[in-house]
Amino acid sequence: MRWVITHRMMRVPRVLILYASITGNTQQIALMLAKFLDSYGVKTELVTPEIFTFGDLQPYQGLLIGTYTYGNDANIPDEMLDVYEWLQDQNLKGLPFGVFGSGDLYYGSNKFCKASLSFQNLLIKCGGESVYHPVKVDKYPDFDDDIQEIQKLACHLATEMKEWRHGVCRINKSFL
Ligand SMILES: Cc1cc2nc3c(=O)[nH]c(=O)nc-3n(C[C@H](O)[C@H](O)[C@H](O)COP(=O)(O)O)c2cc1C
Repeated sequence: MRWVITHRMMRVPRVLILYASITGNTQQIALMLAKFLDSYGVKTELVTPEIFTFGDLQPYQGLLIGTYTYGNDANIPDEMLDVYEWLQDQNLKGLPFGVFGSGDLYYGSNKFCKASLSFQNLLIKCGGESVYHPVKVDKYPDFDDDIQEIQKLACHLATEMKEWRHGVCRINKSFL
């Protein structure tokens, strides 16, 4: 018997976007990522650590972690420390992931978005598959360059999940 796979039967990939934001800059990046992913046919779940149920990552085919940077030493914000600890116990082998965050260049290039970089390193250490470099935005994502970077991250993640939907990305190839 031959099986015919219809569009309806295709499994829609699901991405967890877990982020923290105080003044709304990182939240805006998260919302833009969700919008781009939605346009590529990828379902997203946007959550902050305060409302996130720390279960396992089994229901998700992709992961996006977003954070601002804070404190005297470019720290991970308190509310993301729980996320950091939780991730250390997860089996992330082969899970496509991306990291993003807002910071402020005023604090110097060594400290700029350092918390995002800490998550990038952790996720790689835990076996995740980085789909793109960390997207670091200076304050609010209102420049074209920022928006292109955000779109590229979404596109790379969507493309990485091609076993669920092939060729989902339809952005200007010159951005890639
Ligand atoms: C006390 C304090 C310390 C900060 N330290 C850093 C830092 O080390 N590196 C950095 O990139 N941004 C730093 N920032 C800037 C924030 O990360 C930045 O304002 C960011 O856009 C806030 O994101 P949110 O709007 O998502 O909360 C600091 C901000 C404050 C108030």
